[in-house]
Amino acid sequence: MDSIIIKNGHIIDPSLGIDGVGDLVIENGKIKTVKREESGVRGHDKEEKPKTQNSKLKTINAAGLYVLPGLVDMHTHLREPGFESKETISSGTMAAVRGGFTSVCCMPNTDPVNDNETVTEFILRKASAEGACSVFPIGAISKGQKGEELAEMGMMYEAGCVAFSDDGRPVMNSLLMRRALEYSKVFHVPIISHCEDLNLSDGGVMNEGTVSTLLGLSRVPAAAEEVMVARDIILAALTGGRLHIAHVSTEGSVRLIRQAKERGTGVTAETCPHYFSITEEAVEGYDTNAKVNPPLRTQRDVDAIKEGLRDGTIDVIATDHAPHHRDEKLREFDKAPSGISGLETALSLSLKLVHDGILTMSQLLEKMALNPVRIMKLAKGTLHAGAEADVVLVDARREWKVDPERFASRGKNTPFGGLVLRGMPVMTICKGKIYE
Ligand code: DOR
Repeated sequence: MDSIIIKNGHIIDPSLGIDGVGDLVIENGKIKTVKREESGVRGHDKEEKPKTQNSKLKTINAAGLYVLPGLVDMHTHLREPGFESKETISSGTMAAVRGGFTSVCCMPNTDPVNDNETVTEFILRKASAEGACSVFPIGAISKGQKGEELAEMGMMYEAGCVAFSDDGRPVMNSLLMRRALEYSKVFHVPIISHCEDLNLSDGGVMNEGTVSTLLGLSRVPAAAEEVMVARDIILAALTGGRLHIAHVSTEGSVRLIRQAKERGTGVTAETCPHYFSITEEAVEGYDTNAKVNPPLRTQRDVDAIKEGLRDGTIDVIATDHAPHHRDEKLREFDKAPSGISGLETALSLSLKLVHDGILTMSQLLEKMALNPVRIMKLAKGTLHAGAEADVVLVDARREWKVDPERFASRGKNTPFGGLVLRGMPVMTICKGKIYE
């Protein structure tokens, strides 16, 4: 019998209301028990690495570490099939566990697009053979993500898709979006909207503002995102469908989502670490690693997003992990593809919200595990007895320098290279398998 005992860690699990020092016992890949110490002594006072012994019973000393449910990323681009030079299911899931994630939901903008059950089944087969963590595919809303005709949502749902999205592109046709939201009610799954009015963004490559004027780059106004957020909220109210807004980047979007929630419209929303960590100024020097869609915005937007996370308007922190090949990012700014390789920096960047007192550790876990699981209806993100043993051990104080060359991801495209971050995952356990 394979057992792991993780001792004296500071266990936090918002799904169980646990926040204190204790021991976690794993048996045969499942959580067996969570035992809490009565003393209430906090466990992250001493800085210590987990110590492991080589036997069937593995004891891990987690004193000084947080012991948390494995993180769940509801917005990852794994690129396979079709773009294996950017990422594969194997390398992307390895990047996930390095970043503390034990489950990822992968977007359908592969080649071929995941718009039918054959592609969904391929992804699931590959993931179970080669994946380091659990993979949940997201199917396309429209055939070929062309925005013209609904994809076979029912067949993909049956094959294992947990949500639908044309991410990477918006659904410009409002009638098609209406139909997708109506179908979402049949399957009880979310429609994840990439909010961008293509006429307003007009091929722009960075945020519309003073920096774009200085750099002479074509511009994407905040309104390109906000008019689509408004449209989709209106369609969600009309249909009663389950709308989830992807990668929120502007103050106006946060306001619209807040108002919609106040009115009781069933909408949820995510942002990504880069939208609360850096601004459009990162593009200065024409750094293509800072080219992302939606684009990096202003300090005012960053502040609004932090407030949206604090007050619960934004439910989820997702990575929008978008790896690209080095050569593609070496092209001139206008021609380089958009995207940031985010799985391996997401937790550390998000821990800053805890260090700065914007979120508690438990609230951060709600955004990075519990809420994604609730929205996607996954049996994950909990340390409940009997659950698959998906656990991450985090040293919230250890400093490290981001070195993209050491990423497990094939995508080295990050604007955070060279930055010193505080806090990191030191061990990830997926279904009882240890990665350190
Ligand atoms: O920057 C982005 N990259 N935004 C998206 O919506 C798609 C993603 C990609 O697939 O590269």
